[in-house]
Amino acid sequence: MKSIVNIALPKGRLGEKVYAMFAAAGYECPSILEPNRKLIFENKAAGVRYFWVKPSDVAIYVERGAADVGVAGKDILLEYAPEVYELLDLNVGRCRMCVAAKRDFRDNPERTLRVATKFARIAREYYAGLGRDIDIIHLNGSIEIAPILGLSDVIVDIVETGKTLLENDLEPFETIVPISARLIANKASFRFKSAEIEAIQRGLQGQVASDNQE
Ligand code: PRP
Repeated sequence: MKSIVNIALPKGRLGEKVYAMFAAAGYECPSILEPNRKLIFENKAAGVRYFWVKPSDVAIYVERGAADVGVAGKDILLEYAPEVYELLDLNVGRCRMCVAAKRDFRDNPERTLRVATKFARIAREYYAGLGRDIDIIHLNGSIEIAPILGLSDVIVDIVETGKTLLENDLEPFETIVPISARLIANKASFRFKSAEIEAIQRGLQGQVASDNQE
């Protein structure tokens, strides 16, 4: 008998896009589109159960096996390094992790660089690779304000359109890594539900390929 696959989707615009890819791959769950605030939806015939979770929590659900598969941004996977398999780059939710600063910022290598970010691990590894001494200032949002108020010299943050930086008189200085949404799987589920999970992976792979041709 086919088992149900539990799927954690990131709540919000990206999640809706990703759900459309699952649906087009044959894993529809029409009740998910009804206007209500339910968080769990199931389509037994298609063998799927979806959960809407906070985007930064998807990897936790998958790592601990509450979800068999999920969709998480590469930023979260790099920052928290969860013990999951990364199966596929879905090529949506594309943006980049950048170093940004005020336009007139000039680095003085003799001084410790103050870096404000939500992504402490990514920032630490990036600057360790450059042999640069830094002081991390861990913030939870509105990172762009830090250099303006003199709280930090630079920020390490996600840039999508670049609008937030522009409107706050900041400029991207370096791209650390490109980011996009990834299909991830729980390690045990990938063994015990391998046929089902591989079928989902193939279905989504087909969607990624057809999106690339458009
Ligand atoms: C992200 C990021 C930037 C913004 C970049 O914030 O932290 O602030 O998007 O997008 P843009 O280049 O298109 O302007 P998000 O909306 O995820 O919220 P946050 O304040 O929690 O970081």
